[in-house]
Amino acid sequence: MASASKWVSAACVSARNLALGGSVASLSLLGKPRTLFEYATESLFLYKSLSGKRGIPEKFVFEVLPGDRQYDLAIANFQCEEGWMRRTGSYSTDLISLCQLCHVLNPRKIFEIGTLRGYTALHMAMNSTPDCRIFTLDLPKGSAQPAVRLRTTLMDDLHSQMEVGEYYFCGTPHAHNIQLLFGDSAAFDFSPYRGNIDLFFIDGAHSYDYVRSDTENALHCVRPGGVIAWHDFGRVGLNEVSKYILELSRKLAIYSVPGGSLAFAVL
Ligand SMILES: C[S@@+](CC[C@H](N)C(=O)[O-])C[C@H]1O[C@@H](n2cnc3c(N)ncnc32)[C@H](O)[C@@H]1O
Repeated sequence: MASASKWVSAACVSARNLALGGSVASLSLLGKPRTLFEYATESLFLYKSLSGKRGIPEKFVFEVLPGDRQYDLAIANFQCEEGWMRRTGSYSTDLISLCQLCHVLNPRKIFEIGTLRGYTALHMAMNSTPDCRIFTLDLPKGSAQPAVRLRTTLMDDLHSQMEVGEYYFCGTPHAHNIQLLFGDSAAFDFSPYRGNIDLFFIDGAHSYDYVRSDTENALHCVRPGGVIAWHDFGRVGLNEVSKYILELSRKLAIYSVPGGSLAFAVL
């Protein structure tokens, strides 16, 4: 169970986002509060992106890592709750950018923190060569609230309690490329992956403490010239991803994709 204080701070963030990101037109959504909050948070996100107020340079993947002038991307053709093809565009931008990273890096080994139902793991596999192995780590599912070492956000608690059911990659030709790992990322033994990961994708818990811990592990695992990518940079909901990335950007060149929340750094 998430603590009462987390629900209180969630209510404060929602009220702030409504006040700052809502508009006269959006008042027509009062009868659909979920859509209204989605509108307000996405508007704020877009405002920050368009006004250049995100604190790190905005660059498309092809501006930092130029590959072939043209290549095909593979996008799964199904609609699902966790999918990144949404009515609001920023998630689609993230999905395309993640797939582009796979194309230009041509990774042999990818490590992901935050499997959920395997939507991004499937896309990384679909956009990498058949010999690429994807290791994807998540908390063990099934228990009411898995024990974790570090502080989490309310959204983290809700995500980690979600039923997984069948992974999206099950029954696809990519299933054998994807290895599921279970554990708390703050307690996991990353030593077998040290220095040999080409792409490390961080999308686990979104508290400052977890993003820092996951990034420190990623920095040990990624080979020189490899990439660390983070999801949810610049989002104005319940996440502290931006706070840590802005700090790290003083020591490491980190870019965010224009109009999206994927941030990435080449080591
Ligand atoms: C936003 S979801 C990941 C979404 C996923 N990348 C996708 O394909 O859409 C975050 C996931 O991180 C997992 N998670 C949260 N805290 C974690 C931790 N401490 N260690 C490992 N995984 C964690 C949650 O259980 C949840 O499944």
